[in-house]
Amino acid sequence: MNSVDYVGIAGIGSYIPPKIITNDDISKLVDTSDEWIVERTGIRERRVVDKDTSTSDIATIAAKRALQDGGISPEEIDLILVATVTPDMAFPSTACIVQKSIGAANAAAFDISVGCAGFIYGLSIGASFIRSGAYKKVLIIGAETLSKIVNWEDRNTCILFGDGAGACILERCEEGYGFLSFDLGADGTDGNLLTMPAGGSRLPASYETVSNNLHTIKMDGREVFKFAVRIMEKTSLNVLNKANITLDELDYLVPHQANIRIIDSASRKIGITPDKVYVNLDRYGNMSSGSIPVALDEAYRNSLLKTGDMILLVAFGSGLTWGSTLLKWNK
Ligand code: UT7
Repeated sequence: MNSVDYVGIAGIGSYIPPKIITNDDISKLVDTSDEWIVERTGIRERRVVDKDTSTSDIATIAAKRALQDGGISPEEIDLILVATVTPDMAFPSTACIVQKSIGAANAAAFDISVGCAGFIYGLSIGASFIRSGAYKKVLIIGAETLSKIVNWEDRNTCILFGDGAGACILERCEEGYGFLSFDLGADGTDGNLLTMPAGGSRLPASYETVSNNLHTIKMDGREVFKFAVRIMEKTSLNVLNKANITLDELDYLVPHQANIRIIDSASRKIGITPDKVYVNLDRYGNMSSGSIPVALDEAYRNSLLKTGDMILLVAFGSGLTWGSTLLKWNK
């Protein structure tokens, strides 16, 4: 890469709503137990927003924290990307709502719909805009209020998800630091494994779609599990190869936080020891596109990351999609 090609994180922030739902709380709604959920997923509790709070509300708080962290004013932002599967509404985009709420008057704005891999896609799009010379500062947000689209009567899914938002501001950085490579992919042939069927042009909202619970998450958990382990290994090795970085040089893996068994199997296959893997799903569950930026921000605020650390971010999600990036930390 040329020296102008290096793009890194100038500001980072996140927001997790205060309300906690424990496994015991869920066992009062469906036939499950704390023991089953912990053993099969690693999740102990998750956070949920109240009924009046939307995705743009939590995205706004995360974005303001990232601006504050970077000492950047909202008017300096050239582009806002919001990765979400729980937008405030079909249109306008949640990115435009956030543009207004943070006062980023000079920014273009759009949403990206990539499921849980959305934040990694966002980083790649943002870095490309900066490398092309089109923009100087890009705000990327991964934000979800999945509690609004979970079927609280379906024990296969309601145990897994939580709400939260994370944000990063990208800009050019010192040579040799920042995002060293990206690997993105999609396989629409298996898209039916993880869907929210109604609410779009295929099945517009109707009494039938509501009474049949079609505005909630449907998932074939076993198949998504197998896909996740396979693709996390593949995309991680690809992104390491692209940057010519070896496993020994890695300091941290920050994976999408879906299930501790997925994380353990994938990291074993990649060849990363557990002490290098950042996990917070026990406290937050799966926040889809919010998972990785929240985890990264938490690691940063807990002073775990130091300049020069090599971090692998890797995610998979609905679509099906996947994405990974290698980040040489420079804050
Ligand atoms: O961001 C991407 C989103 N999705 C994922 O990452 C999900 C990936 N998949 C998974 O995490 C796991 O497949 C689950 C946690 C969803 C399920 O775990 P599993 O070990 O794959 O369980 P299973 O689906 O094979 O079900 C085993 C048994 C079944 O009972 P039978 O048929 O063996 O009698 C289920 O009905 O466990 C039952 N079961 C439950 N039991 C108690 C399923 N959910 C529950 C539950 N509590 N919540």
